[in-house]
Amino acid sequence: MSKNFKRYTVTAALPYANGPVHIGHLAGVYIPADIYVRYLRLQKKDVIYVCGSDEHGVPITLKAQKEGVTPQEIVDRYNKIIKDSFKDFGISFDIYSRTSSKTHAETSSEFFRKLYDKNEFIEKTSEQFYDADAKQFLADRYITGTCPHCGNDKAYGDQCEACGTSLNATDLINPKSAVTGNTPSLKETNHWFLPLDKYQPFLQKWILEDHKEWKPNVYGQCKSWLDLGLQPRAVSRDLDWGVPVPVKGAEGKVLYVWFDAPIGYISATKELTTDWEKYWKSDDTKLVHFIGKDNIVFHCIVFPAMLKAEGSYILPDNVPANEFLNLEGDKISTSRNWAVWLHEYLLDFPEKQDVLRYVLTANAPETKDNDFTWKDFQDRNNNELVAILGNFVNRVVVLTNKYYNGIIPEPEPQEFLAIDKSINDDIVQIKEKIEKNIETYHFREALKEAMNIARIGNKYLTECEPWKIINTNPDRVKNIMYLSLQITASLSQAFEPFLPFTSKRIREMLNITDVNWNNIGKCNILKPLHKINSPSLLFSKIEDVEIEAQINKLMETKKTNSLSQTKAKPQKENISFDDFSKIDIRVGTILEAENVPKTKKLMKLTIDIGIDKRTVVSGIAEYFKPEDVVGKQVSVLVNLAPRNLKGIESQGMILMAENADGSLSFVQPTIKVFNGGEIK
Ligand code: 2FM
Ligand code: ZN
Repeated sequence: MSKNFKRYTVTAALPYANGPVHIGHLAGVYIPADIYVRYLRLQKKDVIYVCGSDEHGVPITLKAQKEGVTPQEIVDRYNKIIKDSFKDFGISFDIYSRTSSKTHAETSSEFFRKLYDKNEFIEKTSEQFYDADAKQFLADRYITGTCPHCGNDKAYGDQCEACGTSLNATDLINPKSAVTGNTPSLKETNHWFLPLDKYQPFLQKWILEDHKEWKPNVYGQCKSWLDLGLQPRAVSRDLDWGVPVPVKGAEGKVLYVWFDAPIGYISATKELTTDWEKYWKSDDTKLVHFIGKDNIVFHCIVFPAMLKAEGSYILPDNVPANEFLNLEGDKISTSRNWAVWLHEYLLDFPEKQDVLRYVLTANAPETKDNDFTWKDFQDRNNNELVAILGNFVNRVVVLTNKYYNGIIPEPEPQEFLAIDKSINDDIVQIKEKIEKNIETYHFREALKEAMNIARIGNKYLTECEPWKIINTNPDRVKNIMYLSLQITASLSQAFEPFLPFTSKRIREMLNITDVNWNNIGKCNILKPLHKINSPSLLFSKIEDVEIEAQINKLMETKKTNSLSQTKAKPQKENISFDDFSKIDIRVGTILEAENVPKTKKLMKLTIDIGIDKRTVVSGIAEYFKPEDVVGKQVSVLVNLAPRNLKGIESQGMILMAENADGSLSFVQPTIKVFNGGEIK
C-alpha cells in the first residue's frame, strides 16, 4: 500500500573515515541517493539528505596503530578528504557530519541508556579473544583467521569479506591477533546484548509480509537471516575508542560501532535542524536508507530492532541497497589499492565529474555486481555524452546564435506540424517514465529515459534539417528552432538529478536559472525574444592515450601487488661449501645478440667474460630485444659443461632473476666491474 508521505529523510551509509572514497562508494550509495534527493527537491518536496563519517570502530584504530598516530588524527584526515570528494562530485548532502561529534556522543548515549532503562538488553559474561602481549581484547577486525564457510584465510572476527557472512570471532579457524600476530587466548568479559530473537516475529512480518516491494537482493538477504533465526547481538566492545557505555561499571567499554553508527543519521539531523523530530518521529515521513549490500543486515534488521525497542522512531520505508562494483574484472580493494580514487580521478579528468556520474549510473550494480572498465567509460563518454547529449545541445545553441543572434524566435502558429506535437507528447511520457523509475529506485533505467529526450531532439533536427531550408522556408525554421530550444530546456531539468554540473551549464547557455521538474515537456519554458548565451562544449572526446594511461596505472598496481603477495619457493637442500666453490661465476659484457631462428625463447649471445669471448644461448628472447641487451654487463656461469641448443654450442649460462609474473631480469653488478671479475 503506498502511503502519502509529507516529507522524506534520506540517509546514505556513513563511510568509515579510514581511507579516501572510490568509484564503488559513489556507484553503490552516494550517486543513487543523490539522484533520488535531487529529484525530490525538483518536485518541491520536503526532503533532507544526511550523511557523515563513521569515525569509530576497529577499522579506524587499526589504521592508527599501523601508522603510529592517534585515531583522532586518522579521522580528522579522512573526514576532510571524503567530505571534499563528495562535494567535488556534487553529492548534495544537507549535512555531512561525523560520529566523533559531541551531539552524536550525547544522542547515542541517550539511545543506549533508554534501552538499558527499559530492560531491553541482556547483560552477559562470555569468553572473548584476548591478546596478552598487546593487553587488549580482540574485537571484530582485531582478529583474523580462516572463514569456516568459504575457507578464506583473511576473514575478520566480525565478517568474511569473501563470502559476505557475518561471523563471531570464535567461529574463526586458526585465529590470529591483528596487532601482534599471536594466537589469542580466551578471557571472560561482560557485555550488553540486544535480543534480536525477541524481535524476530515483528521483523518477520514487517519485512517479509509488509515490504515485499523491497529489492530482491535486499529482501532475499533479510529472508535468509530470518530463516536462520536471529540471535542476541553484543552492542558493546572492550575498546578505548568509541562512545563510552553510559552505565556504571562499564569502564573501558564502548558502544559497538554498528550500534552507534546508524544513530549517527539521527545525530546529523539534530545538527541540521532543531525540527529534527519530525524527520524521525512522524508517521508521514518516508525514511529511506541508501547502502551497499554489506550493510543490509544492520539497516534492515539490527537498526530497525533498535528503533522499535526505543519506541518513538519511525522505521525505514525502503532500504535500496546496491550490489558491488568491480574494477576491470576484479573486486575493488582498499588494501590492494585496486580502486579508482575520487580525488585521483579529478586530477586526471578535471571538470569531468558528470562523466563519472553518468557512467556509474548507466552501469550501476543495481541488481547484480557490475564491472567498471575504462573502455566502457571512454565509449559512454564518446558515443553517448558527446555524440548524443552534447551534440544536440551544441547544435541548438550554435544555430540559434547563427540564425537569430541568440534571440529566441517567435514561432509561427501555422507552421507547427504534427511531428512537433508528437514530440512534446513523447517527452511528457518520458518524464513520467523517469518519475516512475526514480521513485522505485531504478536509476539506470531513469537515466536511459532522460537520454532518450536528447535522442528525440537529435532525430528531430536530423529529420527537419533546418540548415537546408533556412533560406527557402525561414518561418518553418523558426518553429523548428523554437521547439528544439524547448527540448534543450527540458534536458536541463531532466538531467539535473543525474548530471548537475552539465544541467547547470545548459541553463547558463540558455540564460535561465529556474529548475522545475514540472517544466519537462512544456513547450513554452523559454519565451520568444529571450536572449540565450553563446555555445560552449558540454563534453569532449576522451582519447585512447588517456585510457591507456589509466589502464597502465592499474597494471602497475597489479605488478606491485603480485610482488608483495608472491611467496618465495621453499629453499633447496643444503650443499657443502666445496660444492659451492666448484661454481665459477664471472662478470661479462654482451657484445652481440641475435634471436635464434624458429624459436620463441632463445637468443644467441656473444659475451666477453675476460677469459675469452664466447657464445651463450639464453632463454631471454621473450623478454628482451637483441638491440637492448648489447652492452649490458651480466653474470655468467662459465664452467657449466657446454650444451648444444638448436645446433649452437652454448658455453655457459647467464644468471637471471625471475619475477612474480615469470618475467626475467639480469643479475648485474651495481657498478661497472672488469670483465672476468668473480662473483663469490
Ligand atoms: O560499511 C561501512 O562503511 C560503514 N561505516 C557503514 C555505516 S552505515 C551507518 F550505519 F552508519
Ligand atoms: Zn567466507
